[in-house]
Amino acid sequence: MSLTEAQKQIIETSIERVAEVAGDPSPLVYARLFAEQPEMEPLFVLDRDGNARGHMLMEALDCVFDLLGTRSYAPTLIQSELTNHDGFGVPPRVFATFFRVVKETFAEVLGEKWTAETDAAWVLLLAEIDAVILQQADKYGMAV
Ligand code: HEM
Repeated sequence: MSLTEAQKQIIETSIERVAEVAGDPSPLVYARLFAEQPEMEPLFVLDRDGNARGHMLMEALDCVFDLLGTRSYAPTLIQSELTNHDGFGVPPRVFATFFRVVKETFAEVLGEKWTAETDAAWVLLLAEIDAVILQQADKYGMAV
């Protein structure tokens, strides 16, 4: 990955700060996602207490930490979730949207603590995640 060690650290710190400032960012992330992709909201109709949404966000952030570190499982996990989620009616391109929405939400939560450096590091991270999604979708012949 093209991120420097310093940029990886910046991303990790930004995620930790979001938890300090906003506690659980899950409601904010999904509110933004559903505003942008309203057709996704009904898919969560059975998740009345938000637990599945919270768990999913945690797993997605674990993928980020893995990509910033050893990259031992994120590409495989993303691949298997692409297949599982195809069954829910979630196409691969929405995965890319989801991670972008996470970035935008975190930027909003951190306000001026979200610096240009933080933004630049996240832009590179999103490009990396997009590449993993495209590569995994392509490998398994899924339409993006
Ligand atoms: C790498 C990205 C993603 C990961 C790792 C992931 C992971 C997961 C996991 C682990 C669950 C099960 C949660 C539970 O039942 O506790 C789940 C459920 C679900 N995910 Fe994702 N997900 C990802 C992206 C997405 C995207 C982009 C969407 C589209 C909005 C989506 C839609 C759903 C839906 C509709 C469910 C079912 C919720 C329910 O049980 O009611 N996921 N996801």
